[in-house]
Amino acid sequence: MNVLVTGGAGYIGSHAVQRLLADGNTVVVMDNLFRGHRAAVPAEATFVQGDLHDYDLIVKTLKDHAIECVINFAAWTYVGESVEQPLGYYHNNTAGVLTLLRAMAEAGVNKIVHSSTAATYGEPDEMPITEDTPQAPINPYGMSKYMVEQILRDTANANPEFAFACPRYFNVAGCDPEGRIGEDHSPETHLIPVLLEAATGKREKAYIFGTDYPTPDGTCIRDYVHVVDLIDAHVLLMNALKPGQQLFYNLGIGNGMSVREIVDAVKKVTGVDFTVEIGDRRAGDPPSLYADPKKIKEELGWEAKITDTETMVADAYKWFKANPEGYGDG
Ligand code: UFG
Repeated sequence: MNVLVTGGAGYIGSHAVQRLLADGNTVVVMDNLFRGHRAAVPAEATFVQGDLHDYDLIVKTLKDHAIECVINFAAWTYVGESVEQPLGYYHNNTAGVLTLLRAMAEAGVNKIVHSSTAATYGEPDEMPITEDTPQAPINPYGMSKYMVEQILRDTANANPEFAFACPRYFNVAGCDPEGRIGEDHSPETHLIPVLLEAATGKREKAYIFGTDYPTPDGTCIRDYVHVVDLIDAHVLLMNALKPGQQLFYNLGIGNGMSVREIVDAVKKVTGVDFTVEIGDRRAGDPPSLYADPKKIKEELGWEAKITDTETMVADAYKWFKANPEGYGDG
């Protein structure tokens, strides 16, 4: 298939590009390189520098490469930052996708797999989270993605040829097990890479944001899913999508780990007893989020193959150790 991967130079997007190429697809990557890395895009993919606000460039790219499906990873993705910069989040994550969808309509491209998030559920009353759990985002990041889900529904309702899938990610972790590509954010705020930076001396210490949550050890619980498994689900979704379909699936392993448990895993895998201090709660953090991933297993046969946190940490550590400066462009 001819696939346009928007945000394909980022952490998750670059893992998708690698897999799509390995499967024999023709891949075009569009990325504005705001937080992505040119070096994360293999030479076998066509690279177009541009962002979701550039309607004319997207239409031209879709037409020039006879694109059949778009997979959209381009987004700002930090919960804490979204509370401080809501307009940036709505501009990029909501208005940007609106432009992408308008460009797709103009070019006659009717298929999209769009990254959504567990953050659309807010602070649910019940765990685990099913796709029917009411969505009530508690931060602008989650709301910016929730709005896109509605825009996609309305688009599909108006056009029977249009089809979309919204995988709702839980906490994506790990890297390519062969260490060819990795996770390089600047600034880095995600728990596992922050802890790996502390373990490798790139930062002096790490902080646990809050130990007074209503959870067994007082720290937040999240469902960590390996990026390779996550991308496997995207490929299934892309290949399964039929005109008129509107698919929503939780992508998680179905099990929650606390921040303290992740700290222990990173110390064990790296063998480094780095300094961890207790900090205040971070704005916008729900206490507990983990998935019920049954629906996608029953309907498409997907389930996470890697459920061991230490394996996820070890795969991330492999790239961190080999690339202490990341892609070296930040
Ligand atoms: N945390 C710390 N210290 C840090 C960094 C994080 O204690 O230095 C804590 C956070 O407070 C949170 C947990 O570790 O409780 C995980 O935080 P991350 O920043 O790694 O991830 P989030 O859960 O905030 O968000 C991630 C993705 C979102 C997605 C969400 C869904 O970034 O896109 O998971 O669960 F929506």
